[in-house]
Formats: sequence, C-alpha cells, structure tokens
Amino acid sequence: TTIYLKDYRVPDYLVDSTDLHFELQPKATLVKSRLKIRRNPEAGAGLPPLVLDGVELELLSVAIDGKLVPASGYEELPQGLSIPVDAPEFELEIHNRINPEGNTSLEGLYLSNGMYCTQCEAEGFRKITYYPDRPDVMSRFTTTIVAPRQYPVLLSNGNEIARGNTEDGRQFVTWEDPFVKPSYLFALVAGDLQKVEDSYTTASGREVKLQIFTEAKNIGKCDHAMRSLKKAMRWDEEVYGLEYDLDIFMVVAVDHFNMGAMENKGLNIFNSACVLASPETATDSTFQRIESIVGHEYFHNWSGNRVTCRDWFQLSLKEGFTVFRDAEFSADMNSRAVKRIEDVSLLRTVQFAEDAGPMAHPVRPDSYMEISNFYTLTVYEKGAEVVRMVHTLLGGEGFRKGSDLYFERHDGCAVTCEDFIKAMEDANEVDLAQFRRWYSQAGTPVLEVTDAYDAASGNYALTVRQSCPATPEQKEKLPFHVPLALGLLGADGRDLPLDAAGNTQVVLQITEQEQTFNFAGLTEKPLPSLLRGFSAPVKVRYDYNTEQLLFLMRSDTDEFNRWDASQRLAFMALEQLQNDFRNGKSLQLPAELVAAYRSILRSQDLDPALVAEMLALPSEQTLAEQSEKIDAEAIMAARRFARDALASALKEDLRTCYRRLHSDKPYSPSAADIAERSLKNACLSYLCVTEDADALGMAREQFEQATNMTDSAAALGALVNYGEAATAEAALQSFYDRWQQDTQVVELWFGLQSSSAKWGTLDRVRTLMQHPAFEQKNPNKVRAVIGGFANRNFTQFHSADGSGFEFIAEQVIALDKLNPQIAARLVIPITRWKKYRGALGENMRDTLQSVMDSGKLSADLFEVVSKSLI
Ligand code: ARG
Ligand code: ZN
Repeated sequence: TTIYLKDYRVPDYLVDSTDLHFELQPKATLVKSRLKIRRNPEAGAGLPPLVLDGVELELLSVAIDGKLVPASGYEELPQGLSIPVDAPEFELEIHNRINPEGNTSLEGLYLSNGMYCTQCEAEGFRKITYYPDRPDVMSRFTTTIVAPRQYPVLLSNGNEIARGNTEDGRQFVTWEDPFVKPSYLFALVAGDLQKVEDSYTTASGREVKLQIFTEAKNIGKCDHAMRSLKKAMRWDEEVYGLEYDLDIFMVVAVDHFNMGAMENKGLNIFNSACVLASPETATDSTFQRIESIVGHEYFHNWSGNRVTCRDWFQLSLKEGFTVFRDAEFSADMNSRAVKRIEDVSLLRTVQFAEDAGPMAHPVRPDSYMEISNFYTLTVYEKGAEVVRMVHTLLGGEGFRKGSDLYFERHDGCAVTCEDFIKAMEDANEVDLAQFRRWYSQAGTPVLEVTDAYDAASGNYALTVRQSCPATPEQKEKLPFHVPLALGLLGADGRDLPLDAAGNTQVVLQITEQEQTFNFAGLTEKPLPSLLRGFSAPVKVRYDYNTEQLLFLMRSDTDEFNRWDASQRLAFMALEQLQNDFRNGKSLQLPAELVAAYRSILRSQDLDPALVAEMLALPSEQTLAEQSEKIDAEAIMAARRFARDALASALKEDLRTCYRRLHSDKPYSPSAADIAERSLKNACLSYLCVTEDADALGMAREQFEQATNMTDSAAALGALVNYGEAATAEAALQSFYDRWQQDTQVVELWFGLQSSSAKWGTLDRVRTLMQHPAFEQKNPNKVRAVIGGFANRNFTQFHSADGSGFEFIAEQVIALDKLNPQIAARLVIPITRWKKYRGALGENMRDTLQSVMDSGKLSADLFEVVSKSLI
C-alpha cells in the first residue's frame, strides 16, 4: 500500500508519558508498557478507537486504568491493535513478548554478537511494543531494563535514576529522559561492554560526561571518535550557538547495523565501521568518515531531536539540514575544497543517477510504500544542497538568524520542511516562494549557458536557459530558483571586477526559464567560471574548448572549479575515446591532456589532496551517469586506455612525486598529512598500472614497511589490481593472517578484492562468500563483498553474459528473507536497465523480472523492483 503526504492527519491521541519495562531474554523478552494517553484536542470531536502500530509481537495482555481488557474488548490488526475508547484520558498497560535472537531485520530490538541493541528509526519501535509509532507523537520516556548478570551494562536514553538487584539475582537499571521525543529516538543497549570516558564543559559551564562503549577487544579504537565528538560539541556552540542538553552523552559501537549510525537521544548507536579506528587498522578516509558521522549524529541532537519531523515525508528536514551541518563541520576541520569535491563527486555520481532513475523522488517525497527506501542520497545529500543554497542566498549571518528562529520557534515540536523555510524567510524578510520547488520537484535541472561579447560597447551578455528532465509522475517542471555563483576571468587569468564595489564573484538569481545577464564595461571577452563551489545541484552546459579548460585549471581562484575543469577535460577526452572505440578507430590520448596532468603533478603550490583529485580520472560510474545511454564496454575500454596512456606518459613525474612525498613520520590524521598520503598513493597506483617490475617493487616495499593502514591498504590494492596473481595472492594471505582478528580490517580486505576489476571476478566473489569470515546476516560483510562487486566493480559486474546481474538477483532474493532493508538496497544496481544500450539493458531487465517472479517479496524489495519494472 502507498502512503501519501496529502493524506496527513494529526494523531487522534497523544501520549504524555511512556513507561517501559524490559526483561531481557534472547528468545523471549518481556516488554511491559504503561502509557498515559489523552485525546488530541486538535483532532476533532468524539472518541475514535485508539489504533496502535505493532509488528511481529506476541500480545499477552491489555489493561485500561488498571483493569484487564478481555480479548473481545480490542481488535488485533495485521499490523497493530485497535482499542475502543470511552474516556478522553486513560492509562493503558500492555504486555507483550518479542524474540530478539530471531530478529535478522536489525530493526527493533535485536542481538549483535551477544549484545542487545535497538534501531527504531523509522518504524522499528512497533517491533518492540504496541505504540502510535509516528514522529509527531512525542512523549516523556522512562525505561527499566532487567537482565541477567552477564549483561553488566544496561543503557537507555536520558539519565540513570535507579539501579539494583531483583530477588532472583538479576540486575536492573532505570533511565529517565527529561525531553519529550518520538518513539523512533528510543534506544536500549545491554551487554558486556567496556567504555572509554571523558568529559566536556559546555559554553555555559555545564559538565557533560562522555562515554563510548565497545566490546573489550575494541577499546583501543575509540580515541578518534572521542576527539571528534568534543570537536563537534564545540563547533555547534560556536557556529550555531547550540549546546548539549543532558548530563551524559553515550555512544555504542555495534557490529550488525543497517546504516551508518543513529542519533537516539543521549545514546547514539553506531555501526562499528563508523566509529572504531586506530592508525594501524583504519585508513585516512575512515578517520574522516568517523569525524563526520560522529558530528552528524551529535548535531541531530538539535536538528532532529529537539526539533523533529512531523511525518516521514519531512525526513530531509532533519537529514538534509544535518548533512549540511556535518559537511560544514568537516570543511572547517579539514580542507574545505577537498571536502566539497568529495561530496560533489558523490552527488554527481550516485544522486544524479538516482534522480534520473526509476526511484527518482523529490527531496520531500509525495508518497512511499516503505519509508526505509527513502533514506536516499536525494533526501540526504541533495537535501543538504538545498539547505546550502538557502545559506548562499541569505549569507552566513542571515542563515544564522533563520536557524536561531527555527530552533526557538519549534523546540520540542514535530515540524515540516515548510516550517524550516518559513523561519528562514521570516528572520530575513525574504520571499522563498519559488525556491520551495526544490522540495517538491524531482530530477536534476540543467543550465545551458551561452554568452556574447560586444567589443564596441564592452558589454558581455550571459544567457542561461534552464530545464529539468521528466521523472516518474512528474512530466512537466516549473522553473527552479537557482543561485548561480560565478566569476569572469580576464586573459591574464585574473578575476575581473563585476560591480562598482569591485566584487569579483556574483551570485546570479536564476528564476526564469531563460534569462540574460549583462556585464558592462569589459575591455575584453572574459572566460566565465560557472557554478563556483557548486552553488546549486544542477548540471551546467557551456561549450568550453580544451584551451579554456586548461586555462581554468591553472588560473581559477575557485579551487572547486579548477578541479571541475580537470574533470570536464577528462570527460571530453573519454567521450571521444568511447566514440572511437565504437567506430573501431585506434585510440589516442590528446597531447594537451597529458601535458595538463603533467603540470598538475609538478605544481608545488597546490594542496596535494587537490592534485590527487585532479589526477583521478572520472570513475566508470560517473561516466555512466553522464552518458545519455550507457555503453558499458566502451566506457571500460576508454577509461582503461586513458589510464594506461597517462601512466606510461607520466611515469617519471609520478615516481618523482611519490619519492618526494614518501616519508616515515608518525601517523596523524591531520588534513595536511592526509593530503600527502592521498597524492603519494595516487601516484603509486598510477605507477603500478604500467605493471613494470620497478613500480610493483615499490608497492611491495610499501606494503611490507607501512606502519599505518592507509599506506598498507593502498599498496595492497596496487598489488591486487596490477600485480601478478601469485604476488597478489601472497599479499592478500599475509594481510589476512595478520589482521584476521580485526573485523574492520577484514571488511576492508573483502572490499578490496570484490571491487577489483582484475581480481574480483564472479568466481572469486563467490569464493569470498564461502570464507569463514563472511556472514550473510552482517550488512557490513554483505556490503563489502556483494556491494563491492555490484557498486564498485564496474567491469566484472557488467560482464557481457549477464552473470553479474544474475548473481545480484540471486543474492537479493536470499537476503530479502533475512533483512529486507539490505535486499532493497542491493537490488538498485540492476534497476537502471533503461539507461543501457543494447543487450545488456534487456538482460538486466529480465533479471529484475526474475526477482519479481521469485515469490513473495518484502514490502521494501517489492517497492523498488515494481517501480523499476514500469
Ligand atoms: N537517522 C540516521 C542518520 O541519518 C539514519 C537512520 C536510518 N534508518 C533507516 N531505517 N534507514 O543518522
Ligand atoms: Zn542523519
């Protein structure tokens, strides 16, 4: 069944307090809930039945105001309970049983390596007990956990208010959360856990206890997360004026987790992979990811918890805003340009593909079958771009005024994206009426830019035409309000002043389908640097020639656009190579491209991380997204040719650069050190492309001598992707032998193999699934092995015989029985069949159909598959 935003109605009943009591047992946990319920005055007259959500629960008893209700006094629904009501206020007590051990969906209460934990967002609480499981019902929670002594740590939201022993020798702890919250923010953890402890003094001088809990073996991998947490707390005070509000903040690492992490009030639960790190075991990108996710979940305390969502259509209210917040946090802690490049690359590759595919939806969807399917790049990353555009339109100060008003107005409430925009408008006295279309219209807008210079008058005219492709259920789009940041470069490479005040950058307000902007008084025809900093989530088409792109790469003051010029240049060359490949011509890499790469590599003034980003050819996935129709074979051939040609042409420069950056200083995850390692390892990997003995020797040496995982994994990757099979085999084996006890490293080891074009054949991937460390019930392992193959191994996945697609179909069908959320994500690579040329597309479609025909699918998987077959 489909749920529509237009059908939203306020809840019939409110829950003033929620008193929960758990007696933990693996197969039969007893849950007692006592709810103070009251008719919602805003819901109209009369006393309709109270309808509670409940899924896979064993109902034991229902009592109202202390009196047991006989089974005839309520109705059990397929997914809940309906209870007739005869008073506007009453106390409801329900007892039910659940089976955490049998819960492989990782939603609700489940066991992970013997530890009890919960995941309630979006609709997992209904798998714990009967409840109005919707975010606009906010309640005060008290939670008592009773457990045998092998679970010494018993945690829930808020402050601990009591603990003791039961007569039969078990232990209990009671927690009270003073802030109202919806059920999706509830959390419970019980286990034999160790903790790292620290404290933080807020701006107003309150002392907050900080604790990170893990299994004993991981206790040495919490420092980076703790440091990141303290930085995030300080940053939110400084940038948003927001302080933490409880006396304790807890983080727990869990091995089995569907997503990255969860912002439960006062008790964040993290996928182990997103919180645990040490220099020996985690790469630089893991260090950075942890910093941003720890920040993200912490920032949710305000953008999500204190102010939450009215309904799940508003998910981007908290996620888009919080991703914007975490991105700015990371940019402030590290290199701003590099962070921006990483985020935009992801958006362009994966979000643009989503926006052009069968599941395309607006940032605020109009309908869904299963909300879990809408935790998407569109809601998160494009949603963050929408918030960033508000920031660009209002300026930093105006945005802060708006966010202050938003938090002040809506603290303790469940609100909508509209409320967010309204606060921004009211605080700044601006009109964002047209801007709101970003929330309601799906698809990636395209800006076509042309220009003309009139030497006689000195006028430069820039014309912008916007359009947006049709998406499912939205044929026609109205014009968007696009902030287009730009600069104009003179022949000397300097930015020209654009107004009387001498500003060299302007933000054009694009609101019409076609608009012309005039710049007067120019003495030469300028070169436009468009969409600086990626000021809007759009595609810009402008007919740059090679020379102009080289010029921008060298001279643009906007580092993002320097990188973007390098990507456009590479894309042009790769497109030509694809055409030549299709026409059976011999392939040739343009000399200018090689020269450009050489000069980037030689430049000493650029941030090495930026150099590494500029040297990286667009990925096959990016090329596929940018293709009108995907020709997988041509993409592989073109990219491989360009990579090989660059590697052999630049050999000497790569070697010099590698040597220059190779050092044995102690590891630090500082932006400067990360930048050097990223360029050094980019060079190593290019060098190994040539497969000459010398280069592979360097990789072997680095592999053997590395003292940090970044260098070790990069070297291993080079050996696996380019070395002889025997060398690769030996390196993989010694790496495994060394790290087999470390779950996170083993995941990396899996991923490195499954995503390797050369090594990660389907046979090898199947063999990896037989490996003792592989676990079908663990999403991280599934993502590393199967996801690595489907999403990061373009070559093997697109094998011409369709075997890659069939493999995914087979895995998806099996996983759907265990964990529908994971199945519905894993199927995505075989849903984009319409974009493919020729037989591969048909093949993919047939495979998708076979998933549909395989039997009864979960709601999650059904939604994605059925929408993709239309
Ligand atoms: N709110 C979490 C976060 O973004 C993610 C929760 C995901 N839950 C889900 N059912 N998909 O930090
Ligand atoms: Zn989030």
